[in-house]
Amino acid sequence: MFYETEKNDHGLPHNPFKAIVAPRPIGWISSRDTEGRINLAPYSFFNCIADKPPIVVFSSSGYKDSVSNVDATGEFVCNMASWDLKDDMNLSSAAVPHETSEFELTGLEMADSRLVGVPRVAKAATALECKHLQTLRLKGLDGKESDNYAVFGQVVGVYIDDNVIVDGMVDVTRYRPLSRLGYMDYGVVDEVFQMDRPKV
Ligand SMILES: Cc1cc2nc3c(=O)[nH]c(=O)nc-3n(C[C@H](O)[C@H](O)[C@H](O)COP(=O)(O)O)c2cc1C
Repeated sequence: MFYETEKNDHGLPHNPFKAIVAPRPIGWISSRDTEGRINLAPYSFFNCIADKPPIVVFSSSGYKDSVSNVDATGEFVCNMASWDLKDDMNLSSAAVPHETSEFELTGLEMADSRLVGVPRVAKAATALECKHLQTLRLKGLDGKESDNYAVFGQVVGVYIDDNVIVDGMVDVTRYRPLSRLGYMDYGVVDEVFQMDRPKV
């Protein structure tokens, strides 16, 4: 089959786009507002896009609290959502008023970050402390600004739970990172295999 996104003529009960670009890692973004209130929300339009310097991006469909907080205070943390934390991660996506902290809502404990003034999720196996680089309001082919905001941050500090380091390497099977698929589907990394780069 083939469909044009403008026409959305796939004839399927649900739009398949996000099921195709899958799995997507979930950046569980903690941020704070100018009054020091802490926010937490999952974003699967998320990834690392450079390593020298290390840069991550998350994209918000609408100008949500995470974006306005990062724009206002310049820092955020990408906590990695894992199998154990899946229900808290999901609950933290609830559309609650700005004043409500998702840490309180979920009962998740915070832990101080080292280099940014935004706490991490204490139980998350890894967390990337980030400083804001830029927020880009995305434009479509028509040249018009859409209601999507990509937030870029440079990773300045990395927390890793020592328990997930095996033989000097991060063993993802120890924390089983979650990923977002299409529809209401999720994936979890349980199996890993190696391949060498081609020698030519
Ligand atoms: C697994 C998962 C992934 C999500 N990914 C995104 C995303 O990439 N962009 C987005 O705008 N909303 C996404 N959402 C919805 C937001 O988490 C939700 O709108 C949340 O309330 C936003 O919180 P905030 O206003 O505190 O930033 C996702 C929700 C879940 C459960």
